[in-house]
Amino acid sequence: MTLVKFQNIMSNEVAKRAFFSRPPEPPASVLINDPFQAIYVGNTSIFKVPFSWSFMNLTNPHIAVVGITGAGKSFFVKTFLRRASYIWNTNAVIVDWAGEYKRWVEQTRGKVISLAKGDYLNLLDLSGMKPLDRTKQIMNSLDILTDISLYPEQKRLTEEAIEQSYTNTGFVLYEDPPEGKEPPTLKEVIALLQEKLQDGSYEYPAELENAIYRLRQFAREGEDFFARKSTLDLGMLAKSGLVDIDLSGLPDDKFRALAALFILQTIKEKMRSEGWMESKGLKAMIVLDEAWKVASDDKSDAITIVREARKYGFGLIVASQSPTDVNEAIFSNVGTTFILRIKYEKFMNYLQGSLKFSNFIRGEISRFGVGEAAVKMEFTTALNFPETFIIGKINGEEPLYVYTIDMSDVLTPSELSANLLQKDYQLEREELRNKFIEYNMGGDVSKNIFEALDKSKRTMKMLDMVRALKSNGVDNSSIVPFLKSLGIDDVIISRILAYSGADGRL
Ligand SMILES: Nc1ncnc2c1ncn2[C@@H]1O[C@H](COP(=O)(O)OP(=O)(O)O)[C@@H](O)[C@H]1O
Ligand SMILES: [Mg+2]
Repeated sequence: MTLVKFQNIMSNEVAKRAFFSRPPEPPASVLINDPFQAIYVGNTSIFKVPFSWSFMNLTNPHIAVVGITGAGKSFFVKTFLRRASYIWNTNAVIVDWAGEYKRWVEQTRGKVISLAKGDYLNLLDLSGMKPLDRTKQIMNSLDILTDISLYPEQKRLTEEAIEQSYTNTGFVLYEDPPEGKEPPTLKEVIALLQEKLQDGSYEYPAELENAIYRLRQFAREGEDFFARKSTLDLGMLAKSGLVDIDLSGLPDDKFRALAALFILQTIKEKMRSEGWMESKGLKAMIVLDEAWKVASDDKSDAITIVREARKYGFGLIVASQSPTDVNEAIFSNVGTTFILRIKYEKFMNYLQGSLKFSNFIRGEISRFGVGEAAVKMEFTTALNFPETFIIGKINGEEPLYVYTIDMSDVLTPSELSANLLQKDYQLEREELRNKFIEYNMGGDVSKNIFEALDKSKRTMKMLDMVRALKSNGVDNSSIVPFLKSLGIDDVIISRILAYSGADGRL
């Protein structure tokens, strides 16, 4: 015990000395780049240097963005994409898990593709790839998303049937596909397996049945989003300006992950075959926002892409609220990480362990408000300055109005000092307004609450807010889900309801 403490003191001392002997931020020459070749992000917190991002001196253009819900990840991504398109004419493909970019993309006159709502992807589409390579990719996706790797025989049968479906339609497995030739679909693959089952010659029918069952989940009537002719040209995706692929209409995360993996694979192959041209800047950015399955599995192309560094001609942006769901290989290989507000110790430990920032930066991150960020960059040459620095606010086009709901009238003094429960909830205006609308508190209610908030420096105590909602005619059936959506514990919610009824309205 004593020894550990002693070491802590020592390393603190060393850290302090390091702070004085080395500048706390990278030099301006690194932070400020040619405005025609870099993206302005915000000013650094200590010396207020306008930091602009460029991939030129970095190990690669890939970016990881982490932070709690509401910290400003998506806002950063939007700001970044817009500026990248001004500067490098960068195309963007957003793999939009929750459909949260849709409105913005529409406003920006980009293209929205809503899978399951009229748009389909054929998993067997080749987009110029050899059927054999495409088959391997499909098998890789099945490996990530299903239990197929546990059943080698089913795996073999499935792979064989996919290949056969290509040959039957006139493709040559080892050759580039002829232009314009229609590929088979998953339905044909399933039919081939069924034929084999019915002709009775195969000695392990149960293996066949299971292989069919596994594929069928992606080809069922009404859920055959990946088993029909594609409604879009995947090969063109990364060349079409701003494209949002809205996955929110798909039935579950497995379908979303399958779509995301497929899109990544296709774009990667396309870019690989066309080659990276550094001088031309960033051709495309691919955004994976909250696509945890795709960002966590070792076999995912997200990992291959960041590992294989800069040869692809596009940058990948991985944004997530739970860093532990993002494969460590992503954090240790991306050229840039933006760390926004982090709350949980577990996540902080993980990030600090992998990015190696100081305890000073750690403390700052835990106190960040909306839009504040620590930035860590990996330079191609070793440089003698701290690699992680802080920007006061990601400077986007929209002004930032943060509202605070203060919990000090709900939590007991010991709870407040114990640091286990969140003491306040901060939300940006649009976000709070959207919540009000979502939980039936729109219109006049929302207007009245915002007026009260604006009069009190955009801060309100929780009980005052709940009382104000009640006196505006909102009842518990709307208040409870609203509080839950903020992430407040059930025990605390019942306390809020009880206390706010103390004025006789309960
Ligand atoms: N740097 C910023 N400047 C202004 N507004 C911001 C900034 N970052 C976030 N916001 C606003 O805060 C809210 C939450 O941000 P969002 O990007 O959706 O968070 P996340 O994606 O991390 O959950 C949005 O209304 C957004 O417009
Ligand atoms: Mg978001």
